[in-house]
Amino acid sequence: MTRDPVTKLLLFGATGDLAQRMLLPSLYGLHADGLLPKELVIIGAARTEHSDDSYREFAGKALDKFLPADRKVEGAAATFLQRLTYQPIDMSVADQFKPLADKVGDIAGGLAIYLSTAPSLFEAAITGLEAVGLAGETVRIGLEKPLGYDLASSREINDAVAKAFPEDRIFRIDHYLGKETVQNILALRFGNTFFEPIWNARGIDNVQITIAETVGLEERAGYYDGAGALRDMVANHILQLLTLVAMEPPARYDKTAIRDEKAKVLHSLRPITPEDVGRNVVAGQYGAGASGGQIVRSYTDELGKPSDTETFVAIKAYVDNWRWQGVPFYLRTGKRMAARRSEIAIQFKPVPHSMFAGRGGMLQPNVLVIRLQPEEYIQLLVMAKEPGLDRDGVRLREVPLNLSLDHEFGTKRRIAYERLLLDLIEGDQTLFVRRDEVEGQWSWIDSVRAGWAANGTRPKSYASGSWGPSSAVALTERDGVTWQDD
Ligand code: BG6
Repeated sequence: MTRDPVTKLLLFGATGDLAQRMLLPSLYGLHADGLLPKELVIIGAARTEHSDDSYREFAGKALDKFLPADRKVEGAAATFLQRLTYQPIDMSVADQFKPLADKVGDIAGGLAIYLSTAPSLFEAAITGLEAVGLAGETVRIGLEKPLGYDLASSREINDAVAKAFPEDRIFRIDHYLGKETVQNILALRFGNTFFEPIWNARGIDNVQITIAETVGLEERAGYYDGAGALRDMVANHILQLLTLVAMEPPARYDKTAIRDEKAKVLHSLRPITPEDVGRNVVAGQYGAGASGGQIVRSYTDELGKPSDTETFVAIKAYVDNWRWQGVPFYLRTGKRMAARRSEIAIQFKPVPHSMFAGRGGMLQPNVLVIRLQPEEYIQLLVMAKEPGLDRDGVRLREVPLNLSLDHEFGTKRRIAYERLLLDLIEGDQTLFVRRDEVEGQWSWIDSVRAGWAANGTRPKSYASGSWGPSSAVALTERDGVTWQDD
């Protein structure tokens, strides 16, 4: 990989929730490990008034609060905070970009911009940046989600950005791609020979992708109620995971080869028709219950008004190409679920004939579990003989072959944003989402939403602390499939 590090990073949304929880701790982590370019200056920008000093104080507090204890390095906070400066800006006011450009100063050494802002401000931001010379050849731009709310709005955003930045300087962020175990899907599939011959409709019965959370609305009512689980999680993270599972082997580990293959998968997704919706899609909204060890209120109680926003969605999807013909991809995500768990489960076909039939012990098909959160491991469930003299027949039991990544590599866990921020600073687009991918994601999501609209679908209530509405269980059981690990 060729590295082309910038010397300045301009962080829009510098006082926001994401900056406090993720971006500042990630930048600190990179700084403490000596991974940031020595001369890198970070300019924070947001509406809130701050001087450089008061922003440093603000950032210091965020680090105290959100930095994991094992990432704190003696003395590193003070030197990190010295990298920060700050410029208040209301992006809807064109005049305010000039003082920002003055603050940023010379950009000959390269500038990376990280735009974490409401989509309604995207256009104003791009126009403002361009007008004051902050969009030239030495500038690259990182875009945080949401990139629109449907295909048409995402196109508008992409068009607006494209007026000032060519695609090879646009870095669309999906933080799931920064997760170590997500990148491990590529290593597992394309660094080994044994899975590939059966990684297709002949060898695989079904694929399950789950991102279950125990949190509820948090403080994000304004955004979340207008978005819902389908747009918030499926349109990006879940579909990105699906592409990594389903893609053809790329020729090289580079941004073009990998993203070409991912885009092809997205364009092969079978659109959901209004007729499919009732059968293959389940929308839910959490009611009161107990989640994460706490008694919690219903979604509408938290919100303070009635709402038809879905906080859970389960979908049976198909990738219409040779490799995946007829293989269901069961996708599921929800808030206030029974446990926090992100995982991919690949269920292989059963053996064609069991010689153990009638001799005790049912054969279970093999399952490959890739657990992304909260633990990081890869597990292959295989059948093994129970020890014994087999007087009553051979007894087989499913046991896991375990690859614990934490244990094997023992390295510290990084925040997903560390990887992505470093790649943005150094100019590597491989783990960022290309325009055709985003559009492929939205056009499929739009088909689901159109189906909901045509059917007048409203989310079904589910108890907080459960695995979603009972129809989500029926979605797989109807096919004789059980969600892995419920
Ligand atoms: C974000 C969503 O993109 O991902 C949130 O907007 C969600 O609603 C979060 O909670 C989940 O990320 P992670 O890394 O905690 O699984």
